[in-house]
Amino acid sequence: MVAKLVIISLALLGCVVVSSAQDEWFDSEIEAWHFHTYFFEVNPRISAEVTAFRKALRAKINDGTFPECSLNDWAIGWDGPHPVSQFELCCNKTSFAVAHSFHTQNHGNLSVLVHPLTTLDQEDHKATRVSWMGAPVVLDEECPCLYPILPKPRPCPVYPDYADEIPTAQASRSKFLPIPGTEDYQRRDPSFNILTDPY
Ligand SMILES: *[C@@H]1O[C@H](CO)[C@@H](O)[C@H](O)[C@H]1NC(C)=O
Ligand SMILES: *[C@@H]1O[C@H](CO)[C@@H](O)[C@H](O)[C@H]1NC(C)=O
Repeated sequence: MVAKLVIISLALLGCVVVSSAQDEWFDSEIEAWHFHTYFFEVNPRISAEVTAFRKALRAKINDGTFPECSLNDWAIGWDGPHPVSQFELCCNKTSFAVAHSFHTQNHGNLSVLVHPLTTLDQEDHKATRVSWMGAPVVLDEECPCLYPILPKPRPCPVYPDYADEIPTAQASRSKFLPIPGTEDYQRRDPSFNILTDPY
């Protein structure tokens, strides 16, 4: 009898835990995913590898293999929450599987972070929601560049055709640095709108 009660109680507890976790996700459905590929721009071999990898991703976009993915610009050096250089491929959920397969098979020596895009930008970058190919990179989860909550989940924008060769650190940083100490992700541009502008 006691054992039965324990089992019933555990089952009920399980339902409560599962349903509250599902509610959280239900409110912030995943519309899209980011694949961030990290590299060290001072290492010529890694630079050659990441450039070749980015060009391979570009080729897959151009030939229609990734119909709803778009390549964002390079970010050289710190671009919180990312501590080292990286670029991201943004894929709407419809193209997630093909892009995930391609990264799995071709990331080589490069570390890749995979994270969802929901209304909870900060949560999306935490260990509970991300996965890695290759060695994980420590992220600055407290970076004020991440929004605690957005009004709606964002699909991927279609980015302009950014160059596939690595830019200089100077050219990249002038564009990417967020305003230090602010809660707003404005990247020095007061007209920046996280819901409508590519980022
Ligand atoms: C992602 O989906 C949105 C909404 O359907 C669409 O406007 C956008 O062009 C898509 N992005 C890409 C990269 O295809
Ligand atoms: C990974 O690194 C090793 C050497 O450390 C190199 O031989 C190999 O070609 C690299 N892989 C790719 C895909 O570049």
